Amino acid sequence: MKDFKGKVAFITGGASGAGFGQAKVFSEAGMKVVICDIRQDHLDEAMAYFKQKKATVHAIKFDLTDRKAYAAAADEVEKVFGEPPQLLINTAGVNTFGPAEASTFEDFDWVMGVCLGGVINGMVTFVPRMIKAGKGGHIATVSSWGAFMGGSTTAPYSAAKAAVNNLMESYYQALKPYNIGVSVQCPANIKSNIAEAVYTRPRELANTGYNVDEKTIGVLRSIHAQGMEPVELARILKKGIEDEVLYIIPYPNWEEMMRGNYERIINLASAAGIKKTETEMKKRLAEMAKQPKQDNPFDGEKTGFGKARKDITWVKAPPPMPMGPPPKEK
Ligand code: NAI
Repeated sequence: MKDFKGKVAFITGGASGAGFGQAKVFSEAGMKVVICDIRQDHLDEAMAYFKQKKATVHAIKFDLTDRKAYAAAADEVEKVFGEPPQLLINTAGVNTFGPAEASTFEDFDWVMGVCLGGVINGMVTFVPRMIKAGKGGHIATVSSWGAFMGGSTTAPYSAAKAAVNNLMESYYQALKPYNIGVSVQCPANIKSNIAEAVYTRPRELANTGYNVDEKTIGVLRSIHAQGMEPVELARILKKGIEDEVLYIIPYPNWEEMMRGNYERIINLASAAGIKKTETEMKKRLAEMAKQPKQDNPFDGEKTGFGKARKDITWVKAPPPMPMGPPPKEK
């Protein structure tokens, strides 16, 4: 998709962080934009911005895990703009972190429900409508660099994002005959409000094996404050959509990162490789230890991760993990 002017874009999570950045960039490209979000305050703030810009933006508040509400939102788009979107961006996502071995069903149901279920709902709702409209278009999903690897404290999130990458590859192949491109963007750290995701966690899924309090939220907030600017990320997404690439890894050293990741997987398939991986990890952790000490949001001793479940008294603080893209080889 190269021409955006006058076309309709539908962006989930479009009122905050990465999604708000996309709404700005695609609105500037002349699109009629629909932003949807579960948080009314995020929608109000975003709409105040677009009103001032005199941009054609429509807001819909709904929970994208609710399939009926999703279908109603799709109907509303057709009513307001007279057609389904030609650009769908599945951006909304949530996260919460803690030891995999302490996770509850509800930790999985919430994170996978939004991060994977929300994307599935978007695809099942919109793909037939886009095909029926016969105008082609593009579907992009925001996944994560974390999709390419598991992590001791990221099990529900990493699993959801890995599934999303795989799902997008299937649709990438399936939708070619309809002239609908598919991409999946995999960022490492975004300047966003995702540290507050727990505020939107439904009460019926509140039972957690992690410990999320204002302190852990604050630590995560300070990490995300150092992330990539959403508008910059959205510009990279737009270029990827124009180039019709499946994977959009938004870093200049993306190729080296991808190769490094596949080397990591190959290493995990042999005893010698595992030994090599462990030695390298020790080296990286030793290097990290030399850096000025930062709060580790996954430090079980400080945060009480794993103590939320009364049946769990044995959870150990996992070692600090390097965040973000791997450092460049010297
Ligand atoms: P954000 O929290 O600033 O924006 C996400 C928006 O989605 C929020 O406004 C939130 O209210 C909304 N949302 C959450 N649950 C929803 C639901 N059930 N229905 C409708 N809307 C819902 O977070 P951010 O960081 O901009 O997240 C966007 C995407 O980027 C997510 O998929 C996230 O997993 C992904 N990502 C974020 C990274 C980061 O460092 N912040 C890194 C890699 C990927």
